[in-house]
This record gives sequence, C-alpha cells and structure tokens, in this order.
Amino acid sequence: MPEITVQLDDRSYPVLIGPDKRRRLERLVKKVDRKSRVFAFYDAQFYALHGHILKKETACLRGAAGEMVLPGAETTKSLRTVRRLHDFMIGNRISRSDLILAVGGGVITDVVGFAAATVLRGVRWAAVPTTLLGMVDAAIGGKTGVNHPRGKNLIGAFWQPSFVLADIRFLGTLSERMMTAGLAEIVKYGGLEGEDMISAIRAYLEGGRLYHQRHLTELVTLSAACKARLVGADEREADQRMLLNLGHTFGHAIEQTLNFRRLSHGEALLLGLEAALQLSILLRPARAKALGDYRSLVRQAMRRVPRVPIDSDAVLKALATDKKRSGTSLRLVVLDRPGRARLVTGVQPAQLKQAIEKTCVTYYHTEV
Ligand code: GLY
Repeated sequence: MPEITVQLDDRSYPVLIGPDKRRRLERLVKKVDRKSRVFAFYDAQFYALHGHILKKETACLRGAAGEMVLPGAETTKSLRTVRRLHDFMIGNRISRSDLILAVGGGVITDVVGFAAATVLRGVRWAAVPTTLLGMVDAAIGGKTGVNHPRGKNLIGAFWQPSFVLADIRFLGTLSERMMTAGLAEIVKYGGLEGEDMISAIRAYLEGGRLYHQRHLTELVTLSAACKARLVGADEREADQRMLLNLGHTFGHAIEQTLNFRRLSHGEALLLGLEAALQLSILLRPARAKALGDYRSLVRQAMRRVPRVPIDSDAVLKALATDKKRSGTSLRLVVLDRPGRARLVTGVQPAQLKQAIEKTCVTYYHTEV
C-alpha cells in the first residue's frame, strides 16, 4: 500500500497504514528527532488490550519521559483534562524538542493534540489512531480541541502532527458498533471520491467480514488519501475542506435531538448521508440516476443502524440553531454525482423538512 502524505509545505507529514505498521513506530519517532524524549498518552481500553505489545516492540515507549492512560469517553474532551496533561508534562519538564504521542481514538488524539498545541506554545506531536473512525478522520488534518458546555469542539487549534501511524491489526478488538462509526465516514469518502471507491466499499460489505485486514487497509488508505488531499488544499476550512462535512450537518442535528445518546456520531452520519442525497435530488431531480448506486450503498450501510424514533421537526429546529450559532446561512454539501460534491446555501426550510422526512421513511423501512 502506498504511503499517504499530507502536503503542507514544511509541515507535510506521512500517514502510514497497514497491518503491523506499529513496528515502524520506533523509526518514525527517531526520524522526527533522534534526541527527543517521548511523552505518551494512551486510551485506557487500548492500553489494557494492546499496550504491552506496543511497548515491548517500541523502545522509545518503554523509555518514555512520561506516560498517562486516559478514558476514551467523550467527557475526557474537556479543559480539565488539558489542565491535567499540562500539569503532567510541565511537572516532567517537557521541552520544545520533545515529542508527544497520542495513542487512541478521536477523543484521545483531539485532546492530546490540543494539549500539544498549547503547552510551551506548541510541542510536536504524532498520532497513533486505534479506532477506524480515528484512522480515517480524527487523526488526520490537525484539528485538535475539546468540548465546551455550550457545544462540541468549540475550543481548539489547528496543530498538525509529525506523522500518523494506523496499524490495522488494532481494529480486531473493536466492537461492531465502533466499526460502523468508522464505516460511516468511509461511506462518506466514497461519495466524495466516486465509483472506484464505492466499488471497493461494496466489495468489503458483500464479503461479510467486518474485520477483513486487506479490505480495511484498502479503505482506510483511500479515505486517508481523500482527506489528505482536501486538507492539503485548504487546511483552515475556507472552502474545499468543508466538503468533508457531507452528511454531517444533518447527522449532527439528528444526534443533537437524541441528546448525543441513542445513536453514535457514525450512525447518525449514515442517516445524514441519506438526507444529503435526498436533498441533492430534491434540488435537482436529474441527479437521481447518477446517485442511484451510491444511494443503495448508503442504505446497505444504514441497515447497521439501530432503529430509534427520530422527530423530524426537532431535527429541522436543530438545523436552524446550527445556522444561528454560526451567524451565517446554513451551508450544506450536496452531490451532483459520486465524486462531484458542492456546497449550497439558501436551501428553503420546506426543502430541508422534506429531505428529513424522506430520510426517516427510508430509515424505518430499510430492513435490519
Ligand atoms: N472532520 C472534518 C475535518 O477534519 O475537517
């Protein structure tokens, strides 16, 4: 599998993906700086299952200047945790030439990346994502941050890692629901990338083996390449990076109406993708034909989402709040066809309502 590079001039970095890639960790750390000391922060569940192997194989982790284990729960993404991380690193005399390693899912890479961005005005960090969602999204692109009581990810910084290393073998111990969370993002990338990636996703789903290493390596690589390209073109999300929000605006509104409890982010995203497709077709019915295959893929993945009641009026209201909070008009990503996404503004509430209602009908009538 080729190595992906996020191209950002002198801040460019590699993303390595594949089974047993963890064996490259020692070399990658040394390549950043031979002399740097390592501060390692691990997700607690990962540490219990795989920490001993990773440390056995990686001398710089055995000799780390400091290590800490953190719960992977969303509540860890807080300023309180950042304060703990700062206290720990400053107490252990971290310096600007050291390297911080975040080993875990999106919660860990987000919070540790933000602590790295802020301690001593910025210390280098690297990500070892251990969940499918982390591998295809959170660990790549340098968005770091924590939640605020008024909303998710409201505090943060862009701080790119020095490398990302995704060992596909780590995925073998994840729950099926956690795999679905990552699969949702992969299906999103399929919409952005086009037919070849859609065929690869279909082959994976039809193979019926959720933890199949070769398929997963291929899909994580295709997803990472898509994200790397958009981040390289638009690091600060002025335009092209916004396309990564395909399905997310609807998905987030659905999650919000369920108090972020009954469906995971990825599960809500699959409904959000269906809504984005419904809207694409409502706005231009001629798109229906070109989007047919991709729609059936989204629906195939949506079968994995547990059935919970969705209040479409509440979703519409949540979308309006989103718009008010950002102080701009609601920007949504639609598809002309797989591989061609665009941003639209000025969508009428009646069209949003119709897209949400049609999504609910599909969701309740898709066979589980
Ligand atoms: N998760 C979307 C982005 O990184 O821009």
